[in-house]
Amino acid sequence: MIELEVPLGDRSYPVLVGAGARHRLLEVLPIGVRRAAVVTQASIPVDVDPGVEHQVFTMGEGEEHKDLGTIEDLCRQWAAWGLTRGDCVVAVGGGVVTDTAGFAAAVYHRGIPVVHVSTTLLGQVDAAIGGKTGVNLPEGKNLVGAYWQPSAVLCDTEVLSTLPPEEWRCGLGELAKYHWLGGGQLYELELDERVAACVRIKADVVSSDERESGRRAILNYGHTLAHAIETASDHALRHGEAVAIGLIYAAEVAHRLGRIDAGAVA
Ligand SMILES: NC(=O)c1ccc[n+]([C@@H]2O[C@H](COP(=O)([O-])OP(=O)(O)OC[C@H]3O[C@@H](n4cnc5c(N)ncnc54)[C@H](O)[C@@H]3O)[C@@H](O)[C@H]2O)c1
Repeated sequence: MIELEVPLGDRSYPVLVGAGARHRLLEVLPIGVRRAAVVTQASIPVDVDPGVEHQVFTMGEGEEHKDLGTIEDLCRQWAAWGLTRGDCVVAVGGGVVTDTAGFAAAVYHRGIPVVHVSTTLLGQVDAAIGGKTGVNLPEGKNLVGAYWQPSAVLCDTEVLSTLPPEEWRCGLGELAKYHWLGGGQLYELELDERVAACVRIKADVVSSDERESGRRAILNYGHTLAHAIETASDHALRHGEAVAIGLIYAAEVAHRLGRIDAGAVA
């Protein structure tokens, strides 16, 4: 197991990367938690055992369910169940689940802890790390949200074996961006090391500029066109696919501006 940290002073948190990381959940739950609200999606074949009283809350799949309606549904169900400020949320899923459940945790009772159990490659190398949470509006992606750092992130590479090929490809799209951010030849590393290398870079960037007043914007490499494509295609293209196209576009633009050579574009 590779144990990393996102260093943010008293809000620092561990990121565990490797096969079976989900079994370390109880160990990383905040101390004193009595109940855990597990948020996931019906098709995610990943069971977790928080080791405390828990209930599973399923949300819909796809960007259209990453919305304020789902936030209201989750918060109302948690209230009906009696989830308190001393309890926590466990998000089990890809970026759609961790962004949505993370934001619901940020606003429920004005903020309760959340642990992310990331189950997609894209989530493990990016979405689950760094505390950006939020949902979409009809007017655009991620327009409502909050910075809300998780208490811990578990990147269990074992659960990636059930990812559909197109979701794997999406993860590779987001992963490719880290090549440009100092990751080097990531494809030469075995999976756990590859995920960990990306987490290390993201943790470093986030800790130096948590709220994107400057440097953190480098994590958006390729995303300007990607977000436009996602919105214009009504999400027919997935986020990671759009990012892959955005990376190529940004490289072509940089080449035409004389900033990088043809070899770098290739
Ligand atoms: N917060 C951030 O910093 C950040 C960064 C990058 C992307 N994002 C967001 O992440 C979202 C995309 O995340 P994603 O690519 O993980 O997509 P996703 O969360 O929609 O997951 C893709 C699909 O895979 C399924 N799935 C998840 N885990 C599985 C598993 N182990 N086996 C089988 N199926 C599984 C899901 O149910 C879903 O249908 C976007 O909304 C994007 O805006 C956020």
